[in-house]
Amino acid sequence: MAYQTLLTETKENVLHITLNRAEKMNALNLQLISELDQVFDEVYANNDIHGVLITGAGDKAFAAGADIAEFANFNAEEGAAMAQDGHHAFNKIEACPKPVIALVNGFALGGGCELAMACHIRIATNNAQFGQPEVNLGILPGYGGTQRLIQLVGKGKALELLMTGDMVNAQEAHRIGLANHVLPAEEAQAFAEKMLKKITRKGPLAIAKVIDCVEAYFDKDEDGFAREIEQFGRSFDTLDFKEGTQAFLEKRKPNFNRQ
Ligand code: COA
Repeated sequence: MAYQTLLTETKENVLHITLNRAEKMNALNLQLISELDQVFDEVYANNDIHGVLITGAGDKAFAAGADIAEFANFNAEEGAAMAQDGHHAFNKIEACPKPVIALVNGFALGGGCELAMACHIRIATNNAQFGQPEVNLGILPGYGGTQRLIQLVGKGKALELLMTGDMVNAQEAHRIGLANHVLPAEEAQAFAEKMLKKITRKGPLAIAKVIDCVEAYFDKDEDGFAREIEQFGRSFDTLDFKEGTQAFLEKRKPNFNRQ
């Protein structure tokens, strides 16, 4: 499928998604959010896609937020609809049964930071900057930032970042748990690809179940412990389990077939 605001390319079973509005710091306009939502339908459905890497075009920004010029004249109803669409897309990314890594290669501000936080893992380049500067504009994060930032950095630091609108550099983002790793720009992509490769070589149904159980922890209607027991039990019913244990006993590498 062709997209206007995204570049997509599948290499070695990994879908590389590039947010492609470099001239606007990859600002997330409504079309880009809609296209992200659509491309993840493809990720869910396509058995040849085993993992996803999301980055920003150019070397300045991952994404500098929602498109301010686009929403500048929105009313309350339009603002709520915009947030609804963002939540829909980002929830789909977060719940994706395949690993999703954000390669944060510059500014990750506002919706850009929220998109990175919806991904399972964040690899930052040395020049990355994270922040939720919405209060400078008289609004607040609308794509899950008030919730996911707490989950990653804790309530006190989240409130500080959300209320001051301050940016943190890559090293500080790493220190507070917002970035998993920080690397020089020329090494970050290879590092992220290697990590995806490592994850996608594991039992894929087990990876999906790990994501599901971790998500259950943050769902107020779910009992994550009960979910773990259920998913652990189900994993014994898979061919991947048979293959994984058999390969161990036969002292060879497993060849998982995703069943
Ligand atoms: N929405 C729309 N356009 C944006 C944007 C956004 N969130 N962020 C950057 N841009 C555009 C700029 O308007 C500019 O466009 P122009 O060349 O047509 O004037 C272009 O991207 C380059 O940005 P510029 O501000 O000139 O670059 P800079 O290096 O001086 O500053 C930032 C970079 C990221 C610090 C600055 O662009 C910024 O503060 N952006 C807004 C961040 C924000 O508030 N995000 C939350 C939105 S809810």
